Amino acid sequence: MERKEVRILVVDDEPMMTDSLKQNLAEEGFTVDTASNGAQAVELFDGSGHHLVVCDLQLPDKDMNGVDVLRHVKDTHPTTEVIVMTGYGTVERAVEATKAGAFWFLEKPFDFEVLLPLVEKALERRDLVEQTTTMRQRLATRTEYFNIIGSSKEMQTIYETIESVAKSDANVLIVGESGTGKELIANAIHYNSLRAKKPFIKVNCAALPKELIESELFGHTKGAFTGAHADKDGLIQHAEQGSLLLDEIAEMPVELQPKLLRVLQERSYRKLGSERTYPVDFRLITSTNRLPADAIRDGALRDDLFYRISTITIHVPPLRERSEDIQLLAEHFLKMYARKYQRSISGISQTAYQRLFSHTWPGNVRELQNVLERAVLLAKSNKIEPVDLPFDNGSLPEKNAAGANWDVPPNMTLEEIEKFVIERTLQRTGGNKQAAANLLGIYRPRLYSKIKKYKIDIPALTAS
Ligand SMILES: Nc1ncnc2c1ncn2[C@@H]1O[C@H](COP(=O)(O)OP(=O)(O)OP(=O)(O)O)[C@@H](O)[C@H]1O
Ligand SMILES: [Mg+2]
Repeated sequence: MERKEVRILVVDDEPMMTDSLKQNLAEEGFTVDTASNGAQAVELFDGSGHHLVVCDLQLPDKDMNGVDVLRHVKDTHPTTEVIVMTGYGTVERAVEATKAGAFWFLEKPFDFEVLLPLVEKALERRDLVEQTTTMRQRLATRTEYFNIIGSSKEMQTIYETIESVAKSDANVLIVGESGTGKELIANAIHYNSLRAKKPFIKVNCAALPKELIESELFGHTKGAFTGAHADKDGLIQHAEQGSLLLDEIAEMPVELQPKLLRVLQERSYRKLGSERTYPVDFRLITSTNRLPADAIRDGALRDDLFYRISTITIHVPPLRERSEDIQLLAEHFLKMYARKYQRSISGISQTAYQRLFSHTWPGNVRELQNVLERAVLLAKSNKIEPVDLPFDNGSLPEKNAAGANWDVPPNMTLEEIEKFVIERTLQRTGGNKQAAANLLGIYRPRLYSKIKKYKIDIPALTAS
């Protein structure tokens, strides 16, 4: 989640008031502008469309009061919330302000401690309204594509890439950690291509015994080796006019790689034990859960083959780098398994969601899928709760267990402890600040100001 600046406009003709509010709000991480009259407020607001306006009802302008400022704000930026302050507490005015859409009405004098939660609530409401709007726009784009679930920016890019390359015959290499959905992407490419009605042959190079790969792929003639009792077509032949997926390409024996390269260059192949060449026509898709650069460096993947197969490379990011997709995926798997096991489970509790969001998912989507399957089977109510999730003894300690394994070092100041907790939480969320703020139960701007205050290094979102 990128850092988002939250801008607040404070309007009051008493400099004492604007100064102290500005200082207090700035300490909480907000960007604050101040205006001493209505005309100036409107001008500043039109210039930068603040997220929240805190405005006095009584203004020195001849032709404008707080309600007029409020109306202007609501007319031009309906999602901006306005908190109105007054020194008089005149009831009619308050009613008028509420009718005009004020978020809250606050009587002076008040403590900043009273205002701050209102500010946070108002901003939360604004965020919600904005999110629903962007969600709707997103839904209009894509949350799902050929059985692939995900609305993150990363997945949108992948959908676009699939769309633009599927119809060509370009070789595609799919790189991603185990369980990220490489096979689903390969399926989407094949079934979206002109070869969709022809065979789609999948070969897992890691699963086949090394000695067998060659004959499986290329086929053999009778007597080509001991045990070759009859002629046999290879999988390459079976993929004729269709697509061939070579899974875990970096596991293909290095000796065999030049032979595959030749097939790709010459569009023909030779069976084991035969001198005859047969023409072939297939589209090659390969996948690997190793970074190609590493596999090449280690000598597992020949670079000439790599260049040939990676005309188009699709990088599938691990789930921890697209935590926006967790909710959609969790709901998808919940529905799927509730149907499969005929259990009427309608949702996932807030706390269970927090667990899902803070887990780092080393097994990626496959792990999430397994976790949801188990949870659907275990759930005691119609909602999935944290006890139904397997993290209790794992990487995530129970919240209540904190006391048991938490010994506060006697020489740590409260600030040092706070800094430590924030650092650990950010590590846990893989640098995702929104998720960290959720876990810590504080509003995002407050987390930002603490990150700044303690000069905390944020773990990079992209794992190396
Ligand atoms: N974006 C997704 N939407 C829905 N299901 C997904 C998604 N990504 C993965 N899955 C599911 O997770 C499981 C693993 O996906 P898949 O087999 O495609 O991963 P993979 O990257 O090929 O893994 P491996 O490297 O272990 O072969 C499958 O059951 C698949 O349906
Ligand atoms: Mg796979």
